[in-house]
Amino acid sequence: MNIKHRNGIYTIDSISVKEIAEKFGTPCFVYSDLSISRNFEEIRDVFSDDKKSIYYSVKANSSLSILKLLSSLGSGFDIVSMGELDRVIKIGADPKKIVYSGVGKSEKDIKRSIELGIYCINVESFSELERIKKIASELKIKAPVAIRVNPNIDPGSHEYISTGLESTKFGINLKNMMDAFIYADEAEYIDLIGIDYHIGSQIETLDPFIEAVSSVAKIIKELKKKDINLELIDMGGGLGIDYEGNKVPSMKEYGNALIKAIKDNNLEEYKIILELGRSIVGNAGYLLTKVEYIKRDSEKNYVIVDAGMDNLIRPALYGAWHNIICASIDSNEEILCDVVGPVCECADFLGKDRKLSVSQDDILIITSCGAYASSMASNYNSRPKPPEVMIKNSEVKLISNKESIEDLFSREIII
Ligand code: LLP
Repeated sequence: MNIKHRNGIYTIDSISVKEIAEKFGTPCFVYSDLSISRNFEEIRDVFSDDKKSIYYSVKANSSLSILKLLSSLGSGFDIVSMGELDRVIKIGADPKKIVYSGVGKSEKDIKRSIELGIYCINVESFSELERIKKIASELKIKAPVAIRVNPNIDPGSHEYISTGLESTKFGINLKNMMDAFIYADEAEYIDLIGIDYHIGSQIETLDPFIEAVSSVAKIIKELKKKDINLELIDMGGGLGIDYEGNKVPSMKEYGNALIKAIKDNNLEEYKIILELGRSIVGNAGYLLTKVEYIKRDSEKNYVIVDAGMDNLIRPALYGAWHNIICASIDSNEEILCDVVGPVCECADFLGKDRKLSVSQDDILIITSCGAYASSMASNYNSRPKPPEVMIKNSEVKLISNKESIEDLFSREIII
């Protein structure tokens, strides 16, 4: 972690947290350019050559500055919407380094992706394949596709983010996938380039990743028997991060384990893409928030802060745990408390049953907020989104202004 504590002062990349909060206000997202770069470089250094590439999964954090940073480090991009496509095009990404996943691509989305010449459309259903075939034939442009298969592997993470189980909406299941491959292979305007899977997110052990590689190797063998030859295996993302002292494999261990699995399964001839999100940005971001009130009740103590579930929905949605640190060193005794936001929902909590030594107006640091925090934020309770800053070369730079109430009104028409 790049957060340090010395002589009563908490710093992120040597910059005082309190100073950031004073200058930019709270709540405020803070990212470390250094940590993002280090995370990306750690995996790139083991898993990148003319066959293997890292594609950043834009949904984890779609800030333009973060996309630009990753692009400059050589990343490709995994997108799931036209909004994400617009973002990566805006920062100058090469369409040939974009893959497009998602179960609900509209006709317009497909047309635009084909015309733009993105590297690959990851197809999630038979009807999507039929739609791509129709659009590509009309355009008379071959659409590059990979079939997303659902290998029915339990990644051992939260039910909502276990996408590789047969019971989810993602990918084509093992029973039906062969028909999809054959259909794609025979279609004149479809260029069947690969196979794709993404078994889930916040995966904390290597076994499910290894199991997925051997499962896909078997499918590729079957395809070869039918004379269907692919060039690409998109292995998705999913590597977990350390939220609460949980041991997770390092990027290097993960990369090396995949390389071994690729070799053991004789897949070295294929291009491989990894679509990583959380492991690149998750631990490189923080949410700073101020204590508004401390409410002491006989049943429970509440530390009421100015950030809420609109800024960080993960605790409410998945029961996720984020570390909460008080940036001021208080001499007060620790209290057992729930850290809650101002939003009018019982689910508006950022941490439950924490032991904190806090006073009113203290700044709290919520860690591991680089992924799926600002990108999942909302305006619930008409709360404008907070500013976002990035620490780069020992300077704190604003990368996203605080939203104004006028921004919120701007789409509305009073009738
Ligand atoms: N590729 C595909 C097709 C995905 O659906 C995802 C994430 C990724 C790659 C990147 O996965 P990562 O490396 O970040 O695990 N909101 C949840 C996580 C949802 C993940 C959705 N898909 C959370 O806050 O935990």
